[in-house]
Amino acid sequence: MVQRRRLIVGNWKMHKTIPEARELVQELTDLLDAPAMASVTTVLAPPFTALSTVALAIQGRPYLLGAQTLHWEDQGAFTGEVSGVMLKDLGCRYVIVGHSERRRCFGETDVIVQKKMVAALRHGLRPILCIGETWDQRLSDHTERILSLQLSEALTDVGKEVGDVVIAYEPVWAIGSGRSATVAQVHEAHLHIRTQLVALLGQDTGAQVPILYGGSVTPDNIGELLPIHEVDGALVGSACLNPVLFAKILQIASASPESYQHPSFPA
Ligand code: PGA
Repeated sequence: MVQRRRLIVGNWKMHKTIPEARELVQELTDLLDAPAMASVTTVLAPPFTALSTVALAIQGRPYLLGAQTLHWEDQGAFTGEVSGVMLKDLGCRYVIVGHSERRRCFGETDVIVQKKMVAALRHGLRPILCIGETWDQRLSDHTERILSLQLSEALTDVGKEVGDVVIAYEPVWAIGSGRSATVAQVHEAHLHIRTQLVALLGQDTGAQVPILYGGSVTPDNIGELLPIHEVDGALVGSACLNPVLFAKILQIASASPESYQHPSFPA
């Protein structure tokens, strides 16, 4: 039986100056009981400008550092970009890849997402691959097709470190909308993703990869999302900017430390 630890990731997006970042980590720590947190892996993903500040602020505390994107080359003439080597250098352990805001606002295609996956894994960073359908795609019954396509494109030729991948199912329409997907929708999507992972990566690796849910996660809905089969944790946007709300989410997650596996995927 594979035990998958709870993983909660706070995606700060383009928020928080350096003093604000320091304050957020401090407030979060003041609100949390460190031993309780030991059962949950918590990743903070601030903007690039606050990474080194947050790296220092989390020393000796139960958080890991994540970045929000990376470039696929290690160095070169790519004005404005940041590479996996640089993120590793700052102490990052995770990196979000293919977030729908990057796909929509910055033209990231599945081909680019795949290159970023390879680069992250090459540098020992765990990529959190975001996939999800738009509302129109859901209405026209294309959700599963889109999820399969985004998964298979992004995981093509990623190499033997593929077991380090994390998937985040983020329906585009649920992000920042205050309208989370329903329990039934999350259940169905996560089961589909698990089936695809097992088909693409084989039973052992496919059953090991954590699948997070993201899209308007709050302290009010995390308690009903985490018990769903194949939900291993959450990717949290807006609510992670408020230390009280994020601490509540982490407390609820630490009270349900293991995820449930669907009986079709025993390992
Ligand atoms: P949200 O963002 O929690 O504000 O919906 C989630 C995300 O974009 O990762």
